Formats: sequence, C-alpha cells, structure tokens
Amino acid sequence: MNVVAHTQSAAHIDAPAWVQHEGLKAWVAEIAALTQPDRIEWCDGSEEEYDRLCAEMVAAGTLRKLNPEKRPNSYLAWSDPSDVARVEDRTFICSATAEEAGPTNNWVDPTEMRQTLDGLFAGCMRGRTMYVIPFSMGPLGSPIAQLGVELSDSPYVVVNMRLMTRMGRKVYDVLGTDGYFVPCVHSVGAPLEPGQADVPWPCNDTKYIVHYPETREIWSFGSGYGGNALLGKKCLALRIASKMGRDEGWLAEHMLILGVTSPEGQKRHVAAAFPSACGKTNFAMLIPPKAFPGWKVTTIGDDIAWIKPDANGKLRAINPEAGYFGVAPGTNDKTNHNCMESLRANVIFTNVALTDDGDVWWEGMGPEPDHCIDWQGNDWTPGCGRKAAHPNARFTVSAQQNPAIDPEWDNPAGVPIDAFVFGGRRSDTVPLVTEARNWQEGVYMAATQGSETTAAAMGKQGVVRRDPFAMLPFCGYNMSEYFAHWLELGAKLSAQGVTLPRIFCVNWFQTNDEGRFIWPGFGENMRVLKWMLDRLDGEAEGNEHVLGVTPRFEDLSWEGLNFSRESFDRITHIDTAAWLKELELHKELFDRLHDKLPPELRETKQGYIARLQAG
Ligand code: OXD
Ligand code: MN
Repeated sequence: MNVVAHTQSAAHIDAPAWVQHEGLKAWVAEIAALTQPDRIEWCDGSEEEYDRLCAEMVAAGTLRKLNPEKRPNSYLAWSDPSDVARVEDRTFICSATAEEAGPTNNWVDPTEMRQTLDGLFAGCMRGRTMYVIPFSMGPLGSPIAQLGVELSDSPYVVVNMRLMTRMGRKVYDVLGTDGYFVPCVHSVGAPLEPGQADVPWPCNDTKYIVHYPETREIWSFGSGYGGNALLGKKCLALRIASKMGRDEGWLAEHMLILGVTSPEGQKRHVAAAFPSACGKTNFAMLIPPKAFPGWKVTTIGDDIAWIKPDANGKLRAINPEAGYFGVAPGTNDKTNHNCMESLRANVIFTNVALTDDGDVWWEGMGPEPDHCIDWQGNDWTPGCGRKAAHPNARFTVSAQQNPAIDPEWDNPAGVPIDAFVFGGRRSDTVPLVTEARNWQEGVYMAATQGSETTAAAMGKQGVVRRDPFAMLPFCGYNMSEYFAHWLELGAKLSAQGVTLPRIFCVNWFQTNDEGRFIWPGFGENMRVLKWMLDRLDGEAEGNEHVLGVTPRFEDLSWEGLNFSRESFDRITHIDTAAWLKELELHKELFDRLHDKLPPELRETKQGYIARLQAG
C-alpha cells in the first residue's frame, strides 16, 4: 500500500509511480477535494495490505479475529443494526429521462441528484482515509471484462473487494495511461471531527445508492454493507453492465453458472437465475447424489453472469466476480458441503454469531451451541427467542477456495451456455420444471417469474412479488426494453442459424398441506438437471402441455430416492383454474410496464389463455 498523508487540495495528489493514468489521478483529486479525507491510500491488493487493514480493523473493533485453530485467518464483523442489507428503496437509476429508467426503478432527475449528492459528499470523508481500489470485473485483460476504480472511506470495503474481485496493482497494468474504468465513489457518510472517537461500524441513516447509466458512474452514500458498498457487484456488474449490454449487444444477468460433466466426459454449461436468497449458491455448488456415479457439477459463478455471443454467435458466459458473498443461515454440510469446505479458512463473516471457542455459528449450520454472542453482541442461549445470526448474515470468500471450482472459471473467453434456467419460490401453481417450447415462450416465463413472500415476512402466504429474470432490483434501464433486448438477441442469433440455449423454468418450492416443501431439493435437483440436459440431446421424454414440456414420473431417474408418484404428480400438475388466475396476475405486471412492452409478450399470454380455455 502506498500512503499519501494530508491531501487537502485537488492540486496536489501524489500517486505511486505505478499509477500512470492522468485521468484517474485528476478524478481522485477531484473527489478528494469534494470529500476532504485526511489521507489517501492507493491500494495495491497485496496480502500485506490485506493483513494490515484487517489488523487495524481488529484494533478499531470493526473486526474480531476468529480462533486460528478453528477458522484460520478469518474475521467476524458485526454491522450497525440499521445497516444489514441492500436498500432497494434508496437505490436510484438516474438516467436522463424517467422513461429510460422505467417504472420498476426509482428515478430522480440526474441534475437534481447531483446537487443532492454534492451536498452529502462535501466533507463526508473528513477524519478518514480515502482508499483508491482498482478492480477488474472478469479475468484481467479479458475482452469481456470491465475495469472499475472504487474510492471508499471504508477499509472493510477494501478487504472485501480483494476477495470479491481481481483487485490491486495488476489492474493498473491493464488500465495503462488512458484505459477506460467505471468510476465508483463510496462513503459511509460519517465524517469525524478532530479528536472524535470512531464507532466500529460507521454509517448514516441517510442512504443513496445512485447510478448514472449514461456516464456509467456509481455513487453510494451512507451504508457499509454488501451490495450497497461493494460497488463492483450489483451496481457495476448488474445495473451499469445491463445497460452496457443493451447498448452493445450482450447480457449482464443475475445468474449462477455451472458446468455438468457426464461419466462419458461430455460437458454442458447452464446459467440459472433465481431471486436473492433462493439458493443460487447451493445450486451452483450442487453435489450429485450417490445414484449418479461419475457425474460432476462444477462452479463457474454463483451470482452474476456476463454473456456475449462469440464470433459464431454462440453465447459464452463469464463470472465477473472472483469470490462469493453468500447468505450464511441455512448453509450446512448437507445443504452445501462444498460451500462449508470453502469456508474453512480465509473468510470474512458478517453478522453471524460468535461461539465461546472463538468460531462462528448461524441458524441451520448444525447443532446449537449452549451459548454464544449474537450478531448484536448480546448473550444468546437456545430458546432465548432471538436469532443468533441475522437472517441476511454473510460470508465473503475467494472463489478459489471452492473445491468444486470449474477449471474454466477464469477463462477469459468464458464457457458456452447450453441452457438457461429460471426459478422462483412458489408454494403452488408453478410446476417442478417446464421446458419452454421456444425462445419467445422462455422469455415470457422468465419475464413473469415471481416469488412468494414468506409467512413470517408478510403475515400470510401467497403474496407473489414479480421478479422478472430475477432482475427487478438490478436492471439499470427500462424493464420493457430489457425484455425486448432478450427477444431481439434471440431473433438475431437464430437468423444467423445459431442454436440458442434452451430455456427451462423450475420451482423447487411447492409445499404440502402442512406447509412443508414437497421436493427434497439441494443435491436431488440433479435429477431435474439431468432431465434438462438429456432434453438437449433429444434423449428425454416429457409431457407437452399448454405451457411447455414437463417430465412424467417415468422420465426422471429415481434410484436412491424414495419419492412417490403421487407427490410428483402434485408438483408437476397444471391446474387450469390456477393458471388462468396466474395469467391474470401477469396482466398486472404488463399493465405496469405497458409503455414499451414488446407486443410478443401479450401475444404469448393470449396464446396460453386460449389454449387453457380450449382445455
Ligand atoms: C443478492 C445477493 O442480494 O446476491 O442478490 O447478495
Ligand atoms: Mn444476488
């Protein structure tokens, strides 16, 4: 790390010799003049830097070092109780017009927003260090990758960015003297007066997560947590990148990417979109059941995919990230063994509980400890009526620690995508799996996917939030144009004679009369995955119904699993009345998006209704 002390004026920025980019230096000077940090540190991404910042945060009370015998080189952070998740209602897409942001995004006129932010950022880093964090989303130097530089007054952001992205000095080699980077400014919004003591987790009640899609800028104020603060992830790799993709003919998606290799050595790649907290990391790290000897599932990514047609029009995907920022509660050796293996060492945990022997615990991890300290620093005992870990508690870990990492995960050319999978959390109506008849119907299914809010959150079940393509909080432009982009890309590639990936829609979450999940999920999802891949080879049958093709009981392999035909029929049944009601609900989404909605989607809906009514 290179330290420059007491930089108060824009005119004087001493960057280290390895920073040769005058535009970057001028921008750093400009932001320093606005935010007035006490010091500027140019991060080099080294281990020494990481260790030193962690040690400083331990001294400041932001991090706790975990017992090195239990969890080597790992730390635990507890956030302020008011700063525990992404803040969608404080997230803004400030395109030139409201129409460009579309009805599903919060929009504020960019001129007005710039004024607001100028006020908030003025002097907001006083008493703090501003870190210059260079990073690459995607393999360094890959034609698909994008460079970014985040200026942040949070050392927690620096160490997380080192795990989540390709971060550090090597980025400057690619950036050169005039390379393009996405400028990202982040502040926790908690300046310190001279002599004022800091708190372990500084943040501000006022929060703004702002994107200017035209100038590709990101400004984030007031939060130190996850997607609000690690600006490479949701802000750059989804909101800004989705707009880049629309302009340049590619896709930035909220999708995991996995590889499946058969015992014969045939390898396929699947990209799958699920809303947040629907088990994407588990699916990306799936371990096939014993009844599938020789089958291997490998992880390319667990959250985001950038997908571009290659010279032959084949869609190829990279994971722009280099680490996992996953939800800890519910993760255990059975639900995700590979993840638990990844978390043995070198992890930053946030908002999980601290055990008496200096390790971590969360709900669903395994046996309850007799006592621990909960995520708010209070004593916790079983039955005390409180959660030990926050439900959105997280781990940050380098992807390279995943024992199932795909050998191609870092390939700058990406991997060829054979199938897209879309899923939501629905207790009824939506069958276990359906293959769309064609691209357009697949886009329809993805556009109308939804998830039910849980009983705990809403007081009653069955309230469906539409989450098109699992992109509702992440699409950086008008959602109707996003649908049009998918349709146009498909039409363009098919006109070139390209075989498009097949599109499947899944629902692992149907419940029985007692409210329990019917499908066992996790590793058993391999049975559904194999059916999908066999469909690609024309080797699996199914029942064609109004919405597409769903396997019959005899079309799946059941070896090693006791699952009744009756249960299977229940979770694959198409209930005409329920579907007519469901399509009525899709109308609500389409009405909301009516301005630019591609007519094909309404036509597809009418087609389904006519077929359902015809019986
Ligand atoms: C999310 C995440 O909220 O990946 O989707 O963190
Ligand atoms: Mn996500």
